[in-house]
Amino acid sequence: MKKIVLSLGGSILVPSLESNRIAQYRDILREISAKYRIYVVVGGGGEARRYINAARSMDIDEATSDELGILITRINASLLMWALGEDAYPDIAESYTDAIKFGNSGKIVVMGGITPGQTTDAVAAVLAERLNADLLLNITAIDGIYSEDPKKNPAATKFSHLTPDGLIDIVSGGRMGAGANNIIDLVAAKMIQRSSLSMIVIDGTKPENIPDALIRGKFDGTVVSDDKKQLLPL
Ligand code: UTP
Repeated sequence: MKKIVLSLGGSILVPSLESNRIAQYRDILREISAKYRIYVVVGGGGEARRYINAARSMDIDEATSDELGILITRINASLLMWALGEDAYPDIAESYTDAIKFGNSGKIVVMGGITPGQTTDAVAAVLAERLNADLLLNITAIDGIYSEDPKKNPAATKFSHLTPDGLIDIVSGGRMGAGANNIIDLVAAKMIQRSSLSMIVIDGTKPENIPDALIRGKFDGTVVSDDKKQLLPL
């Protein structure tokens, strides 16, 4: 079975506890796991940011504040894992080796953050390297990678395809602007570059976009790959 690593932003899965998308993602993960081996790395979203801000306001150092963020990613991951019931491996992977071992069960593997100083995008990229995964799926709140932040410049153009070098250029070139919520973290972009990983960036506010892309080949986000040959359906 082909292996897919999903980086599922906390702000997509749990915009708030009251209006979360966990049931929708549970159904979609079940659908795609019939065809692919699935590893899901869940982010912390607004809740992680609130905890980190509270820690900073008490002068708790950055790395320790990151540990709080990691705990929140694991709480979000646990909610998804338990919602999946028997379809998920019944433990949150806390290392890459765990994730690889859990995946050998054939169940969906769910995890959150691993080490301070990065985001769950980097975790997903490292895991994709470790697994030699066929695809990294970056599930985010925007429908692709743009030349500039489309919220600031409505004339920004969306890339349907980028090479890993082009991705690095956008992420590190500051073209999105300092402090902007970059589409993917630089550590993750470097991993994609050094291992020529294939990634797609997809709008996860409409979860059905994911099976549409993976199973039906219907996709209008951004593909990051070394060449332009057709990637979807896998
Ligand atoms: P996220 O990956 O959720 O960051 O991790 P994010 O960019 O806010 O992503 P969204 O909003 O979910 O899409 C939340 C925080 O947890 C810590 C960092 O502080 C990060 O900002 N973290 C996460 C780590 O330190 N290491 C990790 O491996 C993962």
